[in-house]
Amino acid sequence: MTVVATPPSPKLELPPLQLGSITVDTPVILAPMAGITNSAFRRLCREYGGGLYVAEMVTSRALVERTPESLRIISHDDDEKVRSVQLYGVDPVTVGQGVRMLVEEDRADHIDLNFGCPVPKVTRRGGGSALPWKIDLFTSIVQTAVKEASKGGIPLTIKMRKGIDDDHLTYLDAGRIARDSGVAAVALHGRTAAQFYSGKADWSAIARLREALPDIPVLGNGDIWSAEDAVRMVRETGIDGVVVGRGCQGRPWLFGDLQSAFEGSEKRHRPGLREVADGVYRHAELMIETFGNDEYKALREIRKHMAWYFKGYSVGGELRAKLATVPTLEVLRELLAELDTDLPYPGIDSEGPRGRAGTPKKPALPKDWLLSRQMDAEQTRDITAAELDVSGG
Ligand SMILES: Cc1cc2nc3c(=O)[nH]c(=O)nc-3n(C[C@H](O)[C@H](O)[C@H](O)COP(=O)(O)O)c2cc1C
Repeated sequence: MTVVATPPSPKLELPPLQLGSITVDTPVILAPMAGITNSAFRRLCREYGGGLYVAEMVTSRALVERTPESLRIISHDDDEKVRSVQLYGVDPVTVGQGVRMLVEEDRADHIDLNFGCPVPKVTRRGGGSALPWKIDLFTSIVQTAVKEASKGGIPLTIKMRKGIDDDHLTYLDAGRIARDSGVAAVALHGRTAAQFYSGKADWSAIARLREALPDIPVLGNGDIWSAEDAVRMVRETGIDGVVVGRGCQGRPWLFGDLQSAFEGSEKRHRPGLREVADGVYRHAELMIETFGNDEYKALREIRKHMAWYFKGYSVGGELRAKLATVPTLEVLRELLAELDTDLPYPGIDSEGPRGRAGTPKKPALPKDWLLSRQMDAEQTRDITAAELDVSGG
């Protein structure tokens, strides 16, 4: 590992993040990412720095039905001090049941609700980032979830986008409703559903939400690719903590940089290729554990991480392609042995944007969704279908 000095930055005067009874000393949160933030990845991240590490989202219906996959998603390692679970749901009754199950069976210490998912198959049915538009449904879900969570003293938070599109913003109303319902914090991703992952996150909206909700913690999310970005977001918006998603894909050490930067230290983690290769191998081993010793599934899952881990490093096209289709741990070992592991950190080429991007799209929504901020009878009837067959955020 190379630790390099960047220009000195003063310590951030940011107190620990208080989520109900939970104190997060370093106010940094690993954003929930379906298919990424499983227990293996969370372990890698938290070994580098402090913070709160949220699991992949789980649909409340699958949880209540106790599908094996949903139980895998909410499982945490024994040494995860704060077991953080994110629920997706569109129906207050099912969300309430999901929260109750987590509380009564002591399966979580923190619960977040997902109101940010922009995936068409979710918004088409009124879920995710489409949902806060419907004030009655949103209020009912949040109130029910807070009530159930409070029975176990568990802090409940929400994570949302700015709204559906620039003409249909929801974040200020939704933030106030959530605050009045008793949430422990709100997190805002500074994009609309229509933006998907394109363009730039609008941090000024995060600042506006911070101002609108002076009495609860507000967390900012979107386009933090480095510790310096995180410090800048805090300074520009006045938020209480940062939520980091794609920036740590292939760079779990970003959590070390974040902690250093928040403490005013100039240390940054700059791994050479040997350390990255060792990290990839360890990630694969942990994934095998996470998937109950299913090596085939674990290796299929690790493939998408390869491009992120090796971004900017001199690896060679052919080897890159083989790594991206690696079938077994043994082959992974052989491929990693072909790397020139003496290569140092490549610098800026390995930093910056990674992961989902895309272009703006007109959001798919249920019929007549935007005509009113209240649900009509047909929409109410159809909404429960929105929980079937959903994953991703
Ligand atoms: C692969 C992937 C999966 C995601 N899954 C979820 C999810 O399960 N729940 C959620 O609230 N957001 C999810 N998101 C959104 C992220 O939590 C985050 O809000 C978004 O990536 C913006 O933050 P970033 O710019 O730091 O990546 C996902 C994003 C990505 C890229």
